[in-house]
Amino acid sequence: MGKVESATEAVRRSLRTGKIVAFTGAGISAESHVPTFRGADGLWRNSSPEKLCTAQAFTSNPRLVWEWYDWLRGLIHAAQPNPGHFALTEMQQRNPGRFTLVTQNMDGLHERAGSQDVVKLHGDIWLLRCTTCGREGRNEQVPMEHLPPLCRCGGTLRPAIVWFGEMLPQDQWERATDAARGADIFLAIGTSALVHPAAGLVRVAQQSGAQVVIINPDPTPADEFAKWILRGPAGEILPRLL
Ligand code: OAD
Repeated sequence: MGKVESATEAVRRSLRTGKIVAFTGAGISAESHVPTFRGADGLWRNSSPEKLCTAQAFTSNPRLVWEWYDWLRGLIHAAQPNPGHFALTEMQQRNPGRFTLVTQNMDGLHERAGSQDVVKLHGDIWLLRCTTCGREGRNEQVPMEHLPPLCRCGGTLRPAIVWFGEMLPQDQWERATDAARGADIFLAIGTSALVHPAAGLVRVAQQSGAQVVIINPDPTPADEFAKWILRGPAGEILPRLL
């Protein structure tokens, strides 16, 4: 048995008992052709998403920020969940009561693959919130008819997504930290582990006694907390862990 195969087998065995947390980032949707944030394909008109995902960028040019989200919504709308998403759905179904899925993704592909009770740390691209009256509602129009879209009250709508410098939704964050603290095995899948506080969950889990598994084709700063590192695409590795 090769080195990678034996690590996969060890992780498979560890998944048979105890509490499992799967923590996902944009990399799990890469095989669904949704661009990651920090990969070369994440650039839009030569601008990095990091410059667009701020309240400041939105205030100074809401139309520009919306053009980017409109483009991204189009890609996500056309995308399908991949074997990585489906493997996590199956892991949840096979392990009732001992599996929690925490995602940084706003694309909704976990839910479309059938995952339930997903903890969503960074919001949802299909949910809009009024910057004036605060009303929230789902909107799945692709492409949007007017940019920026307006609320019935006349205010400008924004995506209900956590931008740089904003707080994470408190209830979701509490669920995520509770799950990380209680985890026996913590799978960090397809995340660069660069964006805090979400990335800090890996350390919280490890310090609380979880066995941390990193699933990523590339190194990340969270690798230092890992008991096992499975290098490769999530869509190939996750189905092998079932
Ligand atoms: P990043 O774009 O920072 O990182 C994606 C990670 O996925 C990288 O480490 C890649 O090596 C890895 N990757 C690429 N293809 C993969 C594959 N097929 N299988 C597994 N891994 C793969 O995305 P995130 O870590 O999710 O926040 O970024 C964190 C946050 O930064 C995002 O939630 C977003 C962004 O700003 C908000 O929108 C608030």
